[in-house]
Amino acid sequence: MSQELAATPFIPWNAETARAMIDALKDRPGALMPILTALVGRFGYVDPAIVADIARSLNLSRAEVHGVISFYHDFRTTPPGRHVVRICRAESCQAVGGHRLEEHARERLGVDWHETTSDGRFTLEPVYCLGNCGCSPAVMIDETLHGRVTPARFDALIGNQDDTP
Ligand code: FES
Repeated sequence: MSQELAATPFIPWNAETARAMIDALKDRPGALMPILTALVGRFGYVDPAIVADIARSLNLSRAEVHGVISFYHDFRTTPPGRHVVRICRAESCQAVGGHRLEEHARERLGVDWHETTSDGRFTLEPVYCLGNCGCSPAVMIDETLHGRVTPARFDALIGNQDDTP
């Protein structure tokens, strides 16, 4: 079972756009997390070159900003692969073969969590419930949610991804 979910596709990194996003959010209380989340949502990662701008805008040190970025895996500092594969590791999926699927996916792609395949095609990310528990194990590839994913079906899904850079 597949289900289309609304999601914003990543766009190539653009420092000017990133700075405009920082400006729009910098006056919010606790603005650092919303800024980093917004940058990752738009570009798929936080370019390290923007850290100085973020620090200056929020009156923080660069080390403070770096500390938060490195603490959370979601705040990648390198561009993700052309496809982001998210595998649910939460309870319902674990109960019906999720662990076996995780192992298979890591072996099939030759990467660990948060890593990108050497050909730049896939980035593998863990996720903790995709809201698809009734159809576990669940996997999301880019914006598309897939349920009842077996290792064989995972291979088929990976093989079906458009490889246009
Ligand atoms: S536990 Fe996996 S989708 Fe909810």
